[in-house]
Amino acid sequence: MTTSTDTPVFDHPALDPMNPSPLPAAASMAYLKPLIAGHPKITADDYSYIHSFDDPACFAETQLKYAFDFIEDRLEIGRFCSIAADASFVLNGGNHFADRLSSYPFPIFGCWGEPDPGPWPNKGGITIGHDVWIGWDAVIMPGVTVGHGAIIAAKSVVTRDVDPYTIVGGNPAKPIRKRLPEADIERLLELAWWDWPVEAIRVASDALMKADIDALEQLAPN
Ligand SMILES: CC(C)(COP(=O)(O)OP(=O)(O)OC[C@H]1O[C@@H](n2cnc3c(N)ncnc32)[C@H](O)[C@@H]1OP(=O)(O)O)[C@@H](O)C(=O)NCCC(=O)NCCS
Repeated sequence: MTTSTDTPVFDHPALDPMNPSPLPAAASMAYLKPLIAGHPKITADDYSYIHSFDDPACFAETQLKYAFDFIEDRLEIGRFCSIAADASFVLNGGNHFADRLSSYPFPIFGCWGEPDPGPWPNKGGITIGHDVWIGWDAVIMPGVTVGHGAIIAAKSVVTRDVDPYTIVGGNPAKPIRKRLPEADIERLLELAWWDWPVEAIRVASDALMKADIDALEQLAPN
């Protein structure tokens, strides 16, 4: 097998993004993509992984909340995301009306006549960018977009969009700080290393684990 630059590809089971168990010694960690393949409400891109204190295979049942087929919304997760145990993603099936005389969902029971509230509130799906780290027990609310490179602190409740490379925390989550200088963030977003061929990312992994943007730039494929 060769890449577009004819560089031999290093062979390793964890380089297969559809390998559900890339760390055989740690079954609590799993690539998400194979676990949710074909799921109607979730997409996850290559190499994003989850950790679970129970069973990673139960991600869709336990960590996606209020997801119903008859509602238009989805959870979309980019590449190279790290998702901690108990992080949860709330879709719109749990929404009630907050701007009416009652928040009680009279129409759903069928015994209260035919109250017609109009369309139910839908804030849209959840989009998680690339290289996002979501901390333990964080909650991401409907309609939120988390930018590339962001970090969500443990036990945060994220109700608003998060800018790229921003650390947010608390309930409601507020910016704590940027991860990197603004100029580096712009260059990283331009480089979009997560879209590089796998072999190029493998070569760049040492640079990615340091904070020298010049070194990474030199490794960018043409
Ligand atoms: C967000 C996080 C990465 C910040 O770590 P850090 O860069 O070392 O930051 P610090 O501990 O110096 O904290 C910086 C500020 O953020 C606040 N903060 C840290 N964690 C927070 C949290 N979970 N919720 C709210 N605020 C938080 C601190 O109180 C501090 O505020 P201050 O500057 O007003 O004193 C870390 O606290 C965290 O939540 N990590 C997630 C761990 C996890 O869940 N791992 C699961 C395995 S993948």
